[in-house]
Amino acid sequence: MNKKMVLSALSIVAAVSSSASFAAFTAPGQGVVGSVHDMNQYTAATKDTEGRVCAFCHTPHHALTSTTVTDYMPLWSHTLANTSGYKPYDSATLDATIKDATTMMEGPSKLCMSCHDGTVAADVHYATTTGTLWLDSDAFGGAAVAKDFTLTNDHPIGFVYDDVAAGTAAGAVGTSTEAGKDNYIKNSGAKFSSNLSITVASRLFVNVQNKAIMTCATCHDVHNKKNVDEGTKNYLLLSPNTNSQICLSCHIK
Ligand code: HEC
Ligand code: HEC
Ligand code: HEC
Ligand code: HEC
Repeated sequence: MNKKMVLSALSIVAAVSSSASFAAFTAPGQGVVGSVHDMNQYTAATKDTEGRVCAFCHTPHHALTSTTVTDYMPLWSHTLANTSGYKPYDSATLDATIKDATTMMEGPSKLCMSCHDGTVAADVHYATTTGTLWLDSDAFGGAAVAKDFTLTNDHPIGFVYDDVAAGTAAGAVGTSTEAGKDNYIKNSGAKFSSNLSITVASRLFVNVQNKAIMTCATCHDVHNKKNVDEGTKNYLLLSPNTNSQICLSCHIK
């Protein structure tokens, strides 16, 4: 990225963070058009010439396909930054076995990171590769200058959910003595607080080995449709941040 692009990217970040309220973007549950994920909302350079919204992520033809693994590429039209090598979260008390770095990003997570690690411009999509937008001010992949593709400081993803979740769906503490089980996590039958038609299970990615994995989409709805966020920000969350309901949907605390 040259200096001019860095500068324009920074001004876009500033513009987005000051306007990322419900006033500027559609409210939770109102769909992707007009939401934070409608790339036409940002600068003139970002806009799709035909005003398409889905096109930044999907294309009906000429989509990207995976050559290495049987994975999830829902007619994907956005360049993938890095399909292997994100470093996982770890801690002394983590019970979950996070899949190795190459498979940790199975399912939607790598699709999210194709924009949110800050290496590929968010407006790069099929037939439109101007690359004028670099947006994620948090850059999940690390500092904008030295990307090492780390997710070590982010909530763990990329593990088989029910291998670790040993509490009951209703929220009773589990009784398992097995290593690798956490009795204070509800099993995947649990429902999202204030969004009771949605179970955790329905938000896990079931891979080719039929294992249901926790991903970014377990907490967020990229299409701004099933989320019920409330507050001053729309984080596309399946349960509100208010009273940390999103966390308590799974954690027995
Ligand atoms: C910012 C990127 C983005 C945009 C814009 C977007 N999608 Fe998606 N879409 C995704 C991701 C990521 C997934 C993977 C599943 C998930 O994350 O839940 C997905 C999955 C899907 C799926 C398959 C799974 C499902 O939920 O049925 C369909 C169908 C789909 N999108 C349709 C659309 C349509 C139609 C539009 C435009 C109106 C659209 N998407 C806009 C990112 C996007
Ligand atoms: C085509 C690029 C693209 C893809 C793919 C994408 N995003 Fe985004 N996302 C953006 C942009 C651009 C914004 C608005 C700027 C920002 O907040 O960084 C945004 C905003 C968000 C926000 C709100 C941020 C805020 O501060 O209000 C969340 C949460 C989010 N994305 C999560 C996801 C998740 C989870 C996925 C995958 C399921 C995903 N995104 C896929 C580009 C993308
Ligand atoms: C365990 C639930 C959970 C998972 C999994 C998760 N997030 Fe989030 N995310 C949140 C919550 C909650 C927020 C709201 C901000 C806060 O409370 O600090 C958020 C905020 C965000 C934001 C906007 C604010 C920021 O900090 O930049 C983005 C972008 C985002 N998430 C993307 C992702 C991506 C990409 C993944 C997968 C790599 C992911 N999230 C996985 C819960 C989650
Ligand atoms: C969809 C279910 C789900 C949601 C929502 C969720 N978590 Fe988690 N969280 C888990 C699971 C499963 C683990 C792995 C637990 C383990 O390995 O012991 C975990 C791990 C963690 C850890 C690391 C524990 C350790 O031993 O290092 C922390 C801290 C945590 N979550 C906090 C939160 C917070 C705070 C929120 C809300 C912002 C949240 N979680 C939302 C399921 C969830």
